[in-house]
This record gives sequence, structure tokens and C-alpha cells, in this order.
Amino acid sequence: MPFDFPYEMISEGEAVVAVPKLSAFKKAPWEYAPSKAPVFYNPIMRLNRDIAIVAIQVFQRITGREISVAEPLAGCGVRGIRFALEIEGIRHVYMNDLNPKAYEMAKYNVEMNRLSDAVTLSNEDANLFMSKYAAPRRRFDCIDIDPFGSPTPFLDSAIRALRDGGLLALTATDMAPLCGVHPKAALRKYGGLSIRTEYCHEIAMRLLIGSLVMAAAKHDIGVKVLFSHKSNHYIRVYAMLLHGARRADESIEEMGYILHCFNCFHRETFRGFTCAEKRCRFCGTAMEISGPLWLGRLADGGFCERMKKEALRREKLDRRVRDIISMVHRESDGPATYFVIDKICDKLGLPSPPMRRVAENLMKKNFKVWPTHFNPNGIRTDAPARIVVESVKISAQPPS
Ligand SMILES: C[S@@+](CC[C@H](N)C(=O)[O-])C[C@H]1O[C@@H](n2cnc3c(N)ncnc32)[C@H](O)[C@@H]1O
Ligand SMILES: [Zn+2]
Repeated sequence: MPFDFPYEMISEGEAVVAVPKLSAFKKAPWEYAPSKAPVFYNPIMRLNRDIAIVAIQVFQRITGREISVAEPLAGCGVRGIRFALEIEGIRHVYMNDLNPKAYEMAKYNVEMNRLSDAVTLSNEDANLFMSKYAAPRRRFDCIDIDPFGSPTPFLDSAIRALRDGGLLALTATDMAPLCGVHPKAALRKYGGLSIRTEYCHEIAMRLLIGSLVMAAAKHDIGVKVLFSHKSNHYIRVYAMLLHGARRADESIEEMGYILHCFNCFHRETFRGFTCAEKRCRFCGTAMEISGPLWLGRLADGGFCERMKKEALRREKLDRRVRDIISMVHRESDGPATYFVIDKICDKLGLPSPPMRRVAENLMKKNFKVWPTHFNPNGIRTDAPARIVVESVKISAQPPS
């Protein structure tokens, strides 16, 4: 037996890999098996890996040359192995994990997939690993940080180990701090306050990007967001890092606050770093503040177009990949924050009307609407909150 714990062989994409047998580590129904196993593998994150393959492939095609990719927190190795097998134009993949058992399992998997020449493995702290590649000609073209919880402890090292114009992918799974359950933890980890609004997942995304912008700015590096999505229990962002103090300043100009009125659903954004307490201009209630956070775009239109085409070429992807890319693309032109119809109905004691009816009502009044991938019951619109509330009320009335 290659491992001293229960394992099984699975296939994901083009890879066949050994992973811990999750059912053997789940002692009670409420336990989360991936975190109980001696090596990390989560089948639910296949969607995350599928989208990573599409995004990195598009990035590689844009660069027009062979690229190096690093995965500093690799677990059993399935992600890096899939990168090496499924992305064209990969020069080399560097995989690392601090856990010796993960390293052994990843090594076994690399050999089994006949990738020993294409993949370099190491077994050390991720920050130490990335620091070894921080010198100008050693840097990676792409780094994928996929940790437990927050990626912020690894940001500085990743920024230093990425070449100018490189692609940084970040996953965050610590949704409780980011979504306003623990705002102080968000401030500690991401440098901005979160609030528990109906669009808290978008706030989470903007806090994550904001922390990247501020970390990169210290190194005179700017951030161009190419793609981002929220799926299952995590958020994920793909950003290109561009060297230069001017680029860093331009990114900082996209930072600010989101203010929210919990009484009338009004929200506003404020660019800059001096945000005083404020009363809602519609109902006079004190508004709650989140930030500083990123107020810029959450995806780049051209990059999304290319991702859509790339996803169409690939038949084995999770069927949700194309829908997520299309929705993220569409809503990337919309304003910050969205409304959740159920939330408004709960507050007003109304039955929930179909979202389509609310959207039609808003469009009749010449407002724009976008569905959002963050919430199937959410609607992004340029209409003010009182018009959205009014449209929900009209839509909730039974047809006469
Ligand atoms: C969420 S798992 C990675 C999953 C993997 N990226 C995938 O797609 O399957 C996080 C991994 O980070 C490793 N890890 C935690 N802290 C680390 C550190 N400081 N340096 C390197 N690896 C670390 C853990 O052992 C674990 O395997
Ligand atoms: Zn108000």
C-alpha cells in the first residue's frame, strides 16, 4: 500500500489520482470529511478547478508563450496535475504543500500521471516556497492560492513571486468574516469592515480584491481584475498584476466604501478613504459602512468572452461552468450591489413575485436590470431602492 490511511483512485478531468477515502474519515453525518482526512481533497471544488483551467488557458493564450504555474498549497495534487495535463502551453508546474502526507500523495499522483518531468514538488511553508522564486528572473507566470480559509497570509509572497503581467488566482472560504458575521475578523484579515447585507457575498469579493490591491500597492504594483465568481461556500478571483507606481495608484483610486440603509434598502458607494458616518438621504436612518473595499469591476468583458469560447471547446467541464462565466460577464457591466426580492418581500410581508415580473416592471420604467450569479433571487439594477421596492410591491399583487 503506498499510504498508511484509506485511499481510493478517482478521475477528475484528464487526471487519475489517489485521494483519501473520504467516507472512512467521516465519523458523524455533520462532519466535514475533507478536513478530517490526513490529506486534503474536496470533490466539490472540482468546479473551482474546472474554471481555473479555463481562466489559465485564456491567460496563456493572451501571453502567447509557454507559462509556469505555481500551486503553493497543493493538497493531494489534483489541481496542479490537471493544469499540467489539460492546459496547453504550460512550461512547468510547481506544486508545494507543508503537510508531508500531502507531499507524498502528490508525488505518487505526479508519477502515476507520468508528469515527473513537467512538475516540481516541494514540502515546505507556502511563503518560504514562494519567496525562493521572488528574484526577477525566477518568478512565476501564474500562482494559484487555494488555502483553508483566507488567502491573505500568502498575498505578500505571491505578489513578490509573480512576474509583471502575471496571473494571480485566489480562493477564500472564510465566509463568516467576509459576509459580516464577524466584521472585526474581516478588518483584521482583509483590512476592511464587512456587513451582513443581502449582497454580503459581493461585499466579500470586494473585500478580498481590496486586500489584494492594498498589498500589491506596497510593492508599486497595480491590479486588473479579469474574472471573479462565488460558488458553493467560497469566492474566487483572477487578477493580473501590473508593475508600476502609476498602476498601483490607479487601482487605489477604485477603493472606497459601500454604505447601506437597513431600513429602506438604499445603498451608496463612496470612493476614497475618509468615510464619515452618514444618515440615509431617503429615510434618515444611520447607514452602516463596509470597507475600505474594491469598487471597480468584478470581471473584464474581453477576458470573459475568451473564457466563454474556451469553455465551449472543452466537453468534460462541469455543466455549471458556462453559465457562471456568462452570468459573471453580463453582470460585470452593472452597478455595485444587488437587491434580493425575497428579502424585500420578507420585510414588507409580501408573497415573493417571480423575479422576471419585477425585472419587467423596472424595464418598463426605463431602468436596466441584470441577473446576478451571486444569488438566483437577486437583481442588479440602476434603479434606486425606492423604485425597486415599488416594483416588488406591484409585482407581488395578484393580476387583476
Ligand atoms: C484547501 S487545501 C488545498 C487544495 C488543493 N489546492 C486542491 O485544489 O485540491 C489547503 C492545503 O494547504 C496546505 N497548507 C496549509 N498551510 C500551509 C502552509 N503554511 N504552507 C503550505 N501548505 C499549507 C494544507 O496541508 C492543505 O493541503
Ligand atoms: Zn433609508
